[in-house]
Amino acid sequence: MPSEVSKRFLHVVGARPNFMKAAPVLAALAGRAEQTLVHTGQHYDAAMSEVFFDQLGLPAPDVDLEVGSGSHAAQTAQIMTRFEPVLLERRPDFVVVYGDVNSTVAATLVASKLLVRVAHVEAGLRSRDRKMPEEINRLVTDTLADLLFTPSTDGDDNLRAEGVAADKIHFVGNVMIDTLVRLLPAAAALGTRARLGLPRPYVLVTLHRPSNVDDPATLAPLLAALGRAAASHDVVFPVHPRTRGRLAESGVAVPERIRLLEPLGYLEFLDLQREAAAVITDSGGIQEESTFLGVPCITVRENTERPVTVTLGTNVLVGRDPLRMLAELERALEGGTGGRATGAVRPPLWDGRAAERIAPILLERA
Ligand code: UD1
Repeated sequence: MPSEVSKRFLHVVGARPNFMKAAPVLAALAGRAEQTLVHTGQHYDAAMSEVFFDQLGLPAPDVDLEVGSGSHAAQTAQIMTRFEPVLLERRPDFVVVYGDVNSTVAATLVASKLLVRVAHVEAGLRSRDRKMPEEINRLVTDTLADLLFTPSTDGDDNLRAEGVAADKIHFVGNVMIDTLVRLLPAAAALGTRARLGLPRPYVLVTLHRPSNVDDPATLAPLLAALGRAAASHDVVFPVHPRTRGRLAESGVAVPERIRLLEPLGYLEFLDLQREAAAVITDSGGIQEESTFLGVPCITVRENTERPVTVTLGTNVLVGRDPLRMLAELERALEGGTGGRATGAVRPPLWDGRAAERIAPILLERA
Protein backbone atom coordinates (compact mmCIF):
# COMPACT_ATOMS: atom_id res chain seq x y z
CA MET A 1 0.00 0.00 0.00
CA PRO A 2 1.72 3.25 -1.08
CA SER A 3 1.76 6.02 1.51
CA GLU A 4 -0.41 9.09 0.97
CA VAL A 5 2.62 11.30 0.45
CA SER A 6 3.63 9.34 -2.63
CA LYS A 7 0.46 10.44 -4.41
CA ARG A 8 1.02 13.05 -7.07
CA PHE A 9 -1.38 15.63 -8.42
CA LEU A 10 -0.72 18.08 -11.21
CA HIS A 11 -3.10 21.06 -11.24
CA VAL A 12 -3.61 23.10 -14.40
CA VAL A 13 -4.76 26.72 -14.31
CA GLY A 14 -4.68 29.34 -17.01
CA ALA A 15 -7.38 31.99 -16.86
CA ARG A 16 -8.69 34.31 -14.17
CA PRO A 17 -11.68 32.20 -13.02
CA ASN A 18 -9.44 29.14 -12.52
CA PHE A 19 -7.35 30.66 -9.78
CA MET A 20 -9.99 30.96 -7.05
CA LYS A 21 -11.16 27.40 -7.78
CA ALA A 22 -7.71 25.81 -7.60
CA ALA A 23 -6.57 27.62 -4.44
CA PRO A 24 -8.76 25.70 -1.96
CA VAL A 25 -8.04 22.31 -3.56
CA LEU A 26 -4.28 22.90 -3.42
CA ALA A 27 -4.63 23.97 0.22
CA ALA A 28 -6.73 20.93 1.15
CA LEU A 29 -4.11 18.58 -0.32
CA ALA A 30 -1.09 20.43 1.10
CA GLY A 31 1.19 18.11 3.08
CA ARG A 32 -0.87 15.08 2.04
CA ALA A 33 0.44 14.65 -1.51
CA GLU A 34 3.06 15.88 -3.94
CA GLN A 35 1.61 18.74 -5.95
CA THR A 36 2.65 20.49 -9.13
CA LEU A 37 1.00 23.69 -10.35
CA VAL A 38 1.07 24.43 -14.08
CA HIS A 39 0.01 27.86 -15.37
CA THR A 40 -0.71 27.79 -19.08
CA GLY A 41 -0.33 31.56 -19.42
CA GLN A 42 -3.74 31.91 -21.13
CA HIS A 43 -4.12 35.00 -18.98
CA TYR A 44 -0.86 36.85 -18.49
CA ASP A 45 -1.52 40.50 -17.55
CA ALA A 46 -0.61 41.18 -13.91
CA ALA A 47 -4.20 42.34 -13.30
CA MET A 48 -5.60 39.10 -14.75
CA SER A 49 -3.18 36.65 -13.14
CA GLU A 50 -0.42 37.72 -10.75
CA VAL A 51 -2.65 39.71 -8.40
CA PHE A 52 -4.80 36.60 -7.93
CA PHE A 53 -1.81 34.44 -7.00
CA ASP A 54 -0.84 37.04 -4.40
CA GLN A 55 -4.28 37.62 -2.93
CA LEU A 56 -5.37 33.97 -2.94
CA GLY A 57 -2.09 32.76 -1.43
CA LEU A 58 -1.49 30.42 -4.38
CA PRO A 59 2.03 29.02 -4.63
CA ALA A 60 4.05 30.31 -7.59
CA PRO A 61 3.52 27.99 -10.58
CA ASP A 62 6.12 25.25 -10.94
CA VAL A 63 5.76 25.55 -14.71
CA ASP A 64 4.51 28.46 -16.84
CA LEU A 65 3.70 27.48 -20.41
CA GLU A 66 3.42 31.17 -21.43
CA VAL A 67 1.01 30.52 -24.29
CA GLY A 68 -0.67 33.95 -24.35
CA SER A 69 -3.63 34.90 -26.55
CA GLY A 70 -4.75 33.51 -29.89
CA SER A 71 -7.70 32.06 -31.76
CA HIS A 72 -9.37 29.14 -30.00
CA ALA A 73 -7.57 26.62 -32.19
CA ALA A 74 -4.20 28.35 -31.86
CA GLN A 75 -4.44 28.84 -28.11
CA THR A 76 -5.71 25.31 -27.43
CA ALA A 77 -3.03 23.79 -29.69
CA GLN A 78 -0.27 25.82 -28.05
CA ILE A 79 -1.33 24.67 -24.61
CA MET A 80 -1.47 21.04 -25.77
CA THR A 81 1.94 21.16 -27.46
CA ARG A 82 3.64 22.79 -24.49
CA PHE A 83 1.84 20.74 -21.84
CA GLU A 84 2.61 17.31 -23.33
CA PRO A 85 6.34 17.19 -22.45
CA VAL A 86 5.61 18.51 -18.94
CA LEU A 87 3.13 15.72 -18.38
CA LEU A 88 5.43 13.07 -19.86
CA GLU A 89 8.13 14.16 -17.46
CA ARG A 90 5.98 14.41 -14.34
CA ARG A 91 3.52 11.53 -14.81
CA PRO A 92 1.19 12.40 -11.88
CA ASP A 93 -1.55 10.13 -10.56
CA PHE A 94 -4.12 12.74 -11.59
CA VAL A 95 -4.24 15.90 -13.64
CA VAL A 96 -6.71 18.22 -11.91
CA VAL A 97 -8.49 20.74 -14.14
CA TYR A 98 -10.92 23.52 -13.24
CA GLY A 99 -13.92 25.17 -14.84
CA ASP A 100 -14.46 25.53 -18.56
CA VAL A 101 -11.75 27.63 -20.15
CA ASN A 102 -9.52 26.64 -23.08
CA SER A 103 -6.76 25.62 -20.67
CA THR A 104 -9.16 23.13 -19.06
CA VAL A 105 -10.02 21.29 -22.26
CA ALA A 106 -6.50 21.44 -23.69
CA ALA A 107 -4.92 19.83 -20.61
CA THR A 108 -7.67 17.22 -20.50
CA LEU A 109 -7.11 16.17 -24.11
CA VAL A 110 -3.36 15.79 -23.57
CA ALA A 111 -3.73 13.83 -20.33
CA SER A 112 -6.38 11.48 -21.72
CA LYS A 113 -4.19 10.51 -24.67
CA LEU A 114 -1.21 9.88 -22.39
CA LEU A 115 -3.45 7.68 -20.22
CA VAL A 116 -3.09 9.99 -17.22
CA ARG A 117 -6.32 10.23 -15.26
CA VAL A 118 -8.17 13.56 -15.16
CA ALA A 119 -10.22 15.02 -12.30
CA HIS A 120 -12.55 17.87 -13.28
CA VAL A 121 -13.54 20.36 -10.60
CA GLU A 122 -16.81 22.13 -11.49
CA ALA A 123 -18.08 19.30 -13.68
CA GLY A 124 -21.55 18.77 -15.12
CA LEU A 125 -22.60 22.37 -15.76
CA ARG A 126 -24.45 22.84 -19.04
CA SER A 127 -25.94 25.89 -20.75
CA ARG A 128 -27.05 23.75 -23.72
CA ASP A 129 -25.79 26.56 -25.93
CA ARG A 130 -23.06 25.25 -28.19
CA LYS A 131 -22.42 28.72 -29.60
CA MET A 132 -20.68 29.34 -26.30
CA PRO A 133 -17.04 28.18 -26.44
CA GLU A 134 -17.17 27.22 -22.76
CA GLU A 135 -20.01 24.75 -23.44
CA ILE A 136 -17.80 22.89 -25.92
CA ASN A 137 -15.01 22.89 -23.34
CA ARG A 138 -17.36 21.55 -20.65
CA LEU A 139 -18.73 18.75 -22.87
CA VAL A 140 -15.31 17.53 -24.01
CA THR A 141 -13.72 17.77 -20.57
CA ASP A 142 -16.53 15.88 -18.85
CA THR A 143 -16.61 13.19 -21.55
CA LEU A 144 -12.93 12.46 -20.98
CA ALA A 145 -12.59 13.03 -17.22
CA ASP A 146 -12.25 10.07 -14.86
CA LEU A 147 -13.46 11.88 -11.75
CA LEU A 148 -16.12 14.57 -11.91
CA PHE A 149 -16.71 16.92 -8.98
CA THR A 150 -20.01 18.78 -9.30
CA PRO A 151 -20.95 22.06 -7.58
CA SER A 152 -24.71 21.44 -7.67
CA THR A 153 -27.01 18.47 -8.24
CA ASP A 154 -28.09 19.65 -11.71
CA GLY A 155 -24.50 18.76 -12.64
CA ASP A 156 -25.03 15.17 -11.49
CA ASP A 157 -28.29 14.98 -13.46
CA ASN A 158 -26.62 16.30 -16.63
CA LEU A 159 -23.73 13.86 -16.38
CA ARG A 160 -25.94 10.85 -15.71
CA ALA A 161 -28.16 11.82 -18.66
CA GLU A 162 -25.03 11.84 -20.84
CA GLY A 163 -24.16 8.32 -19.70
CA VAL A 164 -21.33 9.08 -17.26
CA ALA A 165 -20.89 6.21 -14.78
CA ALA A 166 -22.32 7.07 -11.37
CA ASP A 167 -19.13 6.12 -9.50
CA LYS A 168 -17.18 8.85 -11.31
CA ILE A 169 -19.55 11.62 -10.17
CA HIS A 170 -19.17 13.31 -6.79
CA PHE A 171 -21.39 16.14 -5.61
CA VAL A 172 -19.02 18.17 -3.45
CA GLY A 173 -20.29 21.76 -3.58
CA ASN A 174 -18.77 24.92 -4.94
CA VAL A 175 -15.02 25.54 -4.58
CA MET A 176 -15.39 29.15 -5.70
CA ILE A 177 -17.50 29.71 -2.59
CA ASP A 178 -14.73 28.14 -0.48
CA THR A 179 -12.47 31.00 -1.52
CA LEU A 180 -15.20 33.59 -1.04
CA VAL A 181 -15.93 32.39 2.50
CA ARG A 182 -12.24 32.42 3.40
CA LEU A 183 -11.49 35.86 1.99
CA LEU A 184 -14.71 37.81 2.59
CA PRO A 185 -13.45 39.30 5.88
CA ALA A 186 -10.20 40.46 4.23
CA ALA A 187 -12.16 41.92 1.33
CA ALA A 188 -14.61 43.72 3.61
CA ALA A 189 -11.70 45.28 5.53
CA LEU A 190 -10.39 47.02 2.40
CA GLY A 191 -12.95 49.80 2.18
CA THR A 192 -12.83 49.70 -1.62
CA ARG A 193 -16.06 51.68 -2.07
CA ALA A 194 -14.81 54.54 0.06
CA ARG A 195 -11.40 54.47 -1.62
CA LEU A 196 -13.14 54.88 -4.97
CA GLY A 197 -15.36 57.62 -3.57
CA LEU A 198 -18.47 55.66 -4.55
CA PRO A 199 -21.73 56.63 -2.85
CA ARG A 200 -24.40 54.00 -2.13
CA PRO A 201 -26.42 52.66 -3.79
CA TYR A 202 -24.28 51.74 -6.78
CA VAL A 203 -24.51 49.20 -9.56
CA LEU A 204 -21.53 46.97 -10.43
CA VAL A 205 -21.15 45.93 -14.08
CA THR A 206 -18.94 43.38 -15.86
CA LEU A 207 -19.29 42.35 -19.51
CA HIS A 208 -16.77 40.25 -21.42
CA ARG A 209 -18.56 37.39 -23.23
CA PRO A 210 -17.80 37.37 -26.95
CA SER A 211 -21.58 37.21 -27.61
CA ASN A 212 -22.01 40.59 -25.86
CA VAL A 213 -18.86 42.50 -26.61
CA ASP A 214 -17.51 41.32 -29.97
CA ASP A 215 -20.32 42.78 -32.11
CA PRO A 216 -20.78 46.57 -31.81
CA ALA A 217 -24.46 46.12 -32.76
CA THR A 218 -24.94 44.27 -29.46
CA LEU A 219 -22.47 46.16 -27.30
CA ALA A 220 -23.56 49.71 -28.19
CA PRO A 221 -27.24 49.36 -27.09
CA LEU A 222 -26.18 47.64 -23.86
CA LEU A 223 -23.81 50.50 -23.04
CA ALA A 224 -26.44 53.08 -23.96
CA ALA A 225 -28.88 51.43 -21.54
CA LEU A 226 -26.23 51.39 -18.82
CA GLY A 227 -25.76 55.09 -19.52
CA ARG A 228 -29.46 55.63 -18.86
CA ALA A 229 -29.19 53.73 -15.58
CA ALA A 230 -26.19 55.87 -14.67
CA ALA A 231 -28.35 58.99 -14.90
CA SER A 232 -29.97 58.03 -11.60
CA HIS A 233 -27.49 55.65 -9.94
CA ASP A 234 -23.74 55.33 -9.80
CA VAL A 235 -22.58 52.65 -12.23
CA VAL A 236 -19.08 51.24 -11.91
CA PHE A 237 -17.61 48.96 -14.58
CA PRO A 238 -14.19 47.23 -14.27
CA VAL A 239 -13.35 46.47 -17.90
CA HIS A 240 -12.00 43.08 -19.03
CA PRO A 241 -9.12 43.29 -21.57
CA ARG A 242 -11.28 41.66 -24.26
CA THR A 243 -13.94 44.34 -23.81
CA ARG A 244 -11.35 47.10 -23.68
CA GLY A 245 -9.96 45.83 -26.97
CA ARG A 246 -13.36 45.64 -28.67
CA LEU A 247 -14.26 49.13 -27.51
CA ALA A 248 -11.04 50.52 -28.94
CA GLU A 249 -11.43 48.69 -32.27
CA SER A 250 -15.10 49.49 -32.80
CA GLY A 251 -15.09 53.08 -31.57
CA VAL A 252 -18.32 52.38 -29.64
CA ALA A 253 -18.65 55.25 -27.17
CA VAL A 254 -19.12 54.58 -23.47
CA PRO A 255 -21.56 57.05 -21.89
CA GLU A 256 -19.55 59.41 -19.73
CA ARG A 257 -21.53 58.81 -16.57
CA ILE A 258 -20.42 55.17 -16.45
CA ARG A 259 -17.33 54.89 -14.30
CA LEU A 260 -14.81 52.65 -16.07
CA LEU A 261 -12.06 50.94 -14.06
CA GLU A 262 -9.16 48.67 -14.87
CA PRO A 263 -9.74 44.98 -13.96
CA LEU A 264 -9.78 44.69 -10.16
CA GLY A 265 -8.05 42.21 -7.88
CA TYR A 266 -10.07 39.40 -6.34
CA LEU A 267 -10.44 41.13 -2.97
CA GLU A 268 -11.34 44.55 -4.35
CA PHE A 269 -13.96 43.08 -6.67
CA LEU A 270 -15.48 40.95 -3.92
CA ASP A 271 -15.61 44.00 -1.65
CA LEU A 272 -17.46 46.01 -4.32
CA GLN A 273 -19.80 43.12 -5.08
CA ARG A 274 -20.62 42.68 -1.40
CA GLU A 275 -21.90 46.26 -1.09
CA ALA A 276 -23.50 46.65 -4.52
CA ALA A 277 -27.23 47.32 -4.79
CA ALA A 278 -27.22 45.11 -7.88
CA VAL A 279 -24.76 43.45 -10.24
CA ILE A 280 -25.14 43.37 -14.01
CA THR A 281 -22.90 40.72 -15.57
CA ASP A 282 -22.35 38.01 -18.16
CA SER A 283 -19.80 36.14 -16.01
CA GLY A 284 -20.42 32.64 -14.71
CA GLY A 285 -18.68 33.03 -11.37
CA ILE A 286 -20.33 36.32 -10.49
CA GLN A 287 -23.76 34.70 -10.83
CA GLU A 288 -22.64 32.31 -8.10
CA GLU A 289 -20.92 34.81 -5.84
CA SER A 290 -23.87 37.22 -5.92
CA THR A 291 -26.23 34.38 -5.01
CA PHE A 292 -24.09 33.55 -2.01
CA LEU A 293 -23.89 37.21 -1.01
CA GLY A 294 -27.62 37.78 -1.53
CA VAL A 295 -26.99 40.61 -3.99
CA PRO A 296 -29.45 40.86 -6.92
CA CYS A 297 -27.78 39.71 -10.15
CA ILE A 298 -28.97 40.61 -13.64
CA THR A 299 -27.34 38.32 -16.16
CA VAL A 300 -27.03 39.57 -19.73
CA ARG A 301 -27.31 36.13 -21.34
CA GLU A 302 -30.04 33.98 -22.88
CA ASN A 303 -29.11 30.96 -20.76
CA THR A 304 -27.00 29.89 -17.84
CA GLU A 305 -25.06 26.75 -17.00
CA ARG A 306 -25.67 27.64 -13.35
CA PRO A 307 -29.46 27.26 -13.00
CA VAL A 308 -29.46 27.10 -9.19
CA THR A 309 -28.53 30.76 -9.14
CA VAL A 310 -31.93 31.42 -10.76
CA THR A 311 -34.06 28.79 -9.00
CA LEU A 312 -32.62 29.29 -5.51
CA GLY A 313 -30.49 32.40 -5.72
CA THR A 314 -30.66 36.04 -6.75
CA ASN A 315 -30.07 35.69 -10.48
CA VAL A 316 -32.37 36.73 -13.34
CA LEU A 317 -31.59 36.24 -17.04
CA VAL A 318 -32.46 39.12 -19.36
CA GLY A 319 -30.92 37.94 -22.64
CA ARG A 320 -29.20 40.70 -24.59
CA ASP A 321 -32.23 42.94 -24.28
CA PRO A 322 -31.31 46.39 -22.90
CA LEU A 323 -34.91 47.18 -21.92
CA ARG A 324 -35.33 43.99 -19.92
CA MET A 325 -31.98 44.69 -18.30
CA LEU A 326 -33.16 48.15 -17.20
CA ALA A 327 -36.55 46.86 -16.01
CA GLU A 328 -34.92 44.20 -13.83
CA LEU A 329 -32.45 46.73 -12.51
CA GLU A 330 -35.30 49.03 -11.46
CA ARG A 331 -36.98 46.09 -9.74
CA ALA A 332 -33.82 45.20 -7.85
CA LEU A 333 -33.21 48.80 -6.79
CA GLU A 334 -36.82 49.32 -5.74
CA GLY A 335 -36.58 46.16 -3.63
CA GLY A 336 -35.24 48.51 -0.98
CA THR A 337 -33.43 45.62 0.60
CA GLY A 338 -30.13 47.43 0.86
CA GLY A 339 -28.53 45.22 -1.74
CA ARG A 340 -29.82 41.93 -0.31
CA ALA A 341 -32.40 40.13 -2.40
CA THR A 342 -35.28 38.74 -0.38
CA GLY A 343 -36.12 35.05 -0.47
CA ALA A 344 -32.80 33.92 -1.93
CA VAL A 345 -31.36 30.68 -0.58
CA ARG A 346 -27.78 29.46 -0.66
CA PRO A 347 -27.57 26.28 -2.73
CA PRO A 348 -26.74 23.04 -0.88
CA LEU A 349 -23.03 22.52 -0.05
CA TRP A 350 -22.08 26.09 -0.93
CA ASP A 351 -20.61 26.21 2.53
CA GLY A 352 -16.90 26.89 2.15
CA ARG A 353 -15.93 23.21 2.53
CA ALA A 354 -16.09 21.78 -0.99
CA ALA A 355 -12.32 21.29 -1.25
CA GLU A 356 -12.33 19.41 2.06
CA ARG A 357 -14.72 16.99 0.40
CA ILE A 358 -12.65 16.76 -2.79
CA ALA A 359 -9.27 16.02 -1.16
CA PRO A 360 -10.08 12.63 0.44
CA ILE A 361 -11.73 11.40 -2.77
CA LEU A 362 -8.66 12.37 -4.81
CA LEU A 363 -6.32 10.74 -2.29
CA GLU A 364 -8.37 7.58 -2.20
CA ARG A 365 -8.64 7.25 -5.99
CA ALA A 366 -5.01 8.12 -6.78
C1 UD1 B 1 -11.53 33.53 -20.93
C2 UD1 B 1 -12.42 32.30 -20.92
C3 UD1 B 1 -13.78 32.66 -20.35
C4 UD1 B 1 -13.67 33.35 -19.01
C5 UD1 B 1 -12.72 34.53 -19.12
C6 UD1 B 1 -12.53 35.19 -17.79
C7 UD1 B 1 -12.09 30.67 -22.74
C8 UD1 B 1 -12.68 30.12 -23.97
N1 UD1 B 1 -12.65 31.79 -22.26
O1 UD1 B 1 -12.11 34.47 -21.83
O2 UD1 B 1 -14.53 31.47 -20.18
O3 UD1 B 1 -14.93 33.78 -18.60
O4 UD1 B 1 -11.46 34.07 -19.63
O5 UD1 B 1 -11.67 36.26 -17.84
O6 UD1 B 1 -11.18 30.10 -22.20
N2 UD1 B 1 -6.20 39.53 -22.90
C9 UD1 B 1 -5.33 40.43 -22.37
N3 UD1 B 1 -4.63 40.06 -21.24
C10 UD1 B 1 -4.76 38.85 -20.65
C11 UD1 B 1 -5.65 37.93 -21.21
C12 UD1 B 1 -6.37 38.28 -22.33
O7 UD1 B 1 -5.18 41.53 -22.84
O8 UD1 B 1 -4.11 38.59 -19.64
C13 UD1 B 1 -7.00 39.93 -24.08
C14 UD1 B 1 -6.40 39.52 -25.39
O9 UD1 B 1 -6.69 40.51 -26.32
C15 UD1 B 1 -7.17 38.27 -25.76
C16 UD1 B 1 -8.54 38.56 -25.16
O10 UD1 B 1 -8.28 39.32 -23.99
O11 UD1 B 1 -7.18 38.04 -27.12
C17 UD1 B 1 -9.33 37.33 -24.82
O12 UD1 B 1 -8.59 36.46 -23.97
P1 UD1 B 1 -8.93 34.87 -23.97
O13 UD1 B 1 -8.08 34.18 -22.97
O14 UD1 B 1 -8.89 34.35 -25.37
O15 UD1 B 1 -10.43 34.80 -23.55
P2 UD1 B 1 -11.27 35.64 -22.48
O16 UD1 B 1 -12.20 36.51 -23.21
O17 UD1 B 1 -10.34 36.25 -21.48
